[in-house]
Amino acid sequence: MKENISINLKNTGSFVPYEEVLALAQQSTRHLDTLNGATGAGNDFLGWLSLPDDILTQLDRIEKTASHLRSVSNATVVIGIGGSYLGARAVIEALSHSFPSLLKSKHHEILYAGQNICEDYLSDLLEILETRNYSIIVISKSGTTTEPAIAFRILKDHLERKVGKVVAADRIIAITDSEKGALRSLAEINGYETFVIPENIGGRYSVLTPVGLLPIAVSDFDIKALVKGAQAMEKLTRQDKNATSNHVLMYAAARNLLLQGGRPVEILTGFTPRLHYLAEWWKQLFGESEGKEGKGIFPAAVDFTTDLHSLGQYIQEGQRIMFETIISVGNPRKKLTIPMEKDDADQLNYLAGKRLSEVNHNAETGTVLAHNDGNVPVITLNVPELNEFYIGQLIYFFELACAVSGYILDVNPFDQPGVEAYKKNMFALLNKPGFEEAGKKLKERLK
Ligand code: PA5
Repeated sequence: MKENISINLKNTGSFVPYEEVLALAQQSTRHLDTLNGATGAGNDFLGWLSLPDDILTQLDRIEKTASHLRSVSNATVVIGIGGSYLGARAVIEALSHSFPSLLKSKHHEILYAGQNICEDYLSDLLEILETRNYSIIVISKSGTTTEPAIAFRILKDHLERKVGKVVAADRIIAITDSEKGALRSLAEINGYETFVIPENIGGRYSVLTPVGLLPIAVSDFDIKALVKGAQAMEKLTRQDKNATSNHVLMYAAARNLLLQGGRPVEILTGFTPRLHYLAEWWKQLFGESEGKEGKGIFPAAVDFTTDLHSLGQYIQEGQRIMFETIISVGNPRKKLTIPMEKDDADQLNYLAGKRLSEVNHNAETGTVLAHNDGNVPVITLNVPELNEFYIGQLIYFFELACAVSGYILDVNPFDQPGVEAYKKNMFALLNKPGFEEAGKKLKERLK
């Protein structure tokens, strides 16, 4: 039988007793009922709950479009921000070669735009695109978000000038709402192929829709295995009312009890740079879902062992405000052994013959023990390996845990009212029609 992702709370025991975690996890089964019965806050945004099954009918079409883009171009620019960007990047970076652009073998490059408004970034990208035969996937649920809209205007213009309007239209795929928004209108006017982001799925829960799956498929990763992993996790957790076996409930309960015990910061850590963007996706998922009404755990992330030589000091001895959640990956995908050296000038012969993963695992164990000694609780999530199946499991695990955790905190985990504040000010400062009065007030404040 295949192993599944599992939680280990051995290193939180001296901070919150296991029985208390179990008790809160058991009580939290009512939040599963609330989610399954769609009776809680944000209940019109629960499409992600059954997505692992619901998306199956679209997978062939997604793969077909992906292979079309691969056949007509050798690079794809994925335009999007927040939930319309992070999920795809998280999965692609977790599965890709560490130096994709330096590989000699032919591979399809994935580039990103619309996740910032930096003039230098987009100018540099345009410089690179001059030398590339590229396609565009533009993603925006609302179809009106400023960052991706600006990037798309510029890149669409570039691509049309490069290959002509007709060829460009064949290489631009839009993923947006079924009816609303400027992107939907643009797609209809220009005849782009489109995919729909379902109304009842918010951006940060959309990685298993075409939003994440199309870019992942264009990168030639197995989206069917990814969805299978999510299906397996859904089967394990969504209806399981037994806290001992439902690790999603245990994770949600443990982090909330740690918060109540004076730990408002959760640091997600991993011992491979492959997890860097997965942590970025996780930060958005939990940060946007829980951080409201003056509540929520602040989600942070570090890459170990790299950051043991920077933030490691703070985690070991700074203010005791955090707990850690380690994504502990069982097996690497490749094999590398440390060689023996005759004169042992670097005094590393005690490691000769060992695989790097063995050293890394010992670094991980040593870190967990040291941080525990330094009064930092550590939750461990065991992931057998970083492949499509387990990343699919991890995605569903975190999405369900985030929803349950939000309900434990008594917030709506599916809205993000706070994101509007900066937008209103930016529009007002840029004299967007309709924002004139607000603009005047802000400019007064700035005098
Ligand atoms: O999770 C969310 O809802 C947000 O992060 C959005 O994904 C982000 O703001 C982008 O929105 P849109 O897809 O409408 O362009």
